[in-house]
Amino acid sequence: MPALAYVNGRYAPVSDAVIPVEDRGFQFADSVYEVVAFLNGRFLDPEKHLWRLRRNLAALHIEGVAGDAALLSIAKRLVARSRLRDGILYIQVSRGVARRDHPFPAATRPTLVMVARRFDFAQRIAQQKLGVAVISLPEQRWARADLKTTGLLPAVLSKQEARDAGAFEAMLVAGDGSVTEGASTNLWMVDNAGCIRTHPLSARILPGVARDTLMALARADGLRIEERAFTLEEARSAAELFLTSTTAPILPIVSLDGAPVGTGVPGPVAARLAALTWTEISRQTGWGQAGPAA
Ligand code: PDD
Repeated sequence: MPALAYVNGRYAPVSDAVIPVEDRGFQFADSVYEVVAFLNGRFLDPEKHLWRLRRNLAALHIEGVAGDAALLSIAKRLVARSRLRDGILYIQVSRGVARRDHPFPAATRPTLVMVARRFDFAQRIAQQKLGVAVISLPEQRWARADLKTTGLLPAVLSKQEARDAGAFEAMLVAGDGSVTEGASTNLWMVDNAGCIRTHPLSARILPGVARDTLMALARADGLRIEERAFTLEEARSAAELFLTSTTAPILPIVSLDGAPVGTGVPGPVAARLAALTWTEISRQTGWGQAGPAA
């Protein structure tokens, strides 16, 4: 089944879906987005994604967007029409179409786009057993990395540099030496005392939904977890590193800038968190009820 799109009330195969050239999302990246996982036909953490979408719309002063119930019903209809069981739903809202001029246009209706496409979550479970590589790169994004806007050029360039180096993700390092996050993931380390650490919520990182879920699961399991930034130097001597996102709920990092992380293979804390994460995914969606081997 090809990816299916919804654009302002119309459903079409994604290859036929179009946006006017004067859409401000295209002209100015004047738009916000969400990526929501669905497994077994059910959305994972839909309320958290809708909450973040509202926060981003408010931050950009984009008004006149359908309410949460309406958005959810469009999303459900799109997924049902796509006949996909496992996939990702992309939602984008731009300020709308208007003659190109920087200030907000007077009476423009926002553009609402959704796309549902297949995604193989089982591949992540396979990847989880091997782990992935990352490379460190300087943080080059704007000062509001907490907003999920489509202005993603620094992330795109960093991700490409990582891929060109044979790595899965870029570890972004701020001027003060602290690791903020990945180009499209949140980053975590386990220190040698067994404490799990990640950058605290601030304008420097995206408040990840998978991050939030993982934190709650770790706390409920009695693991030590702290929202405290770590430096690149600390990452280099970490017992474990791992990343989280909607499309990679948890992946151990086994190599940083070509050097092994910890023992060079996925560690026990990431394995424990992976088991908790997939159990939670299964609880919410009924996906793979047998659960993965951690
Ligand atoms: N990326 N940090 C950044 C910069 C991100 O772009 C993302 C998500 C995350 C993780 O957030 P979440 O757990 O809510 O997916 C962290 C999405 C998946 C993307 O751009 O495709």
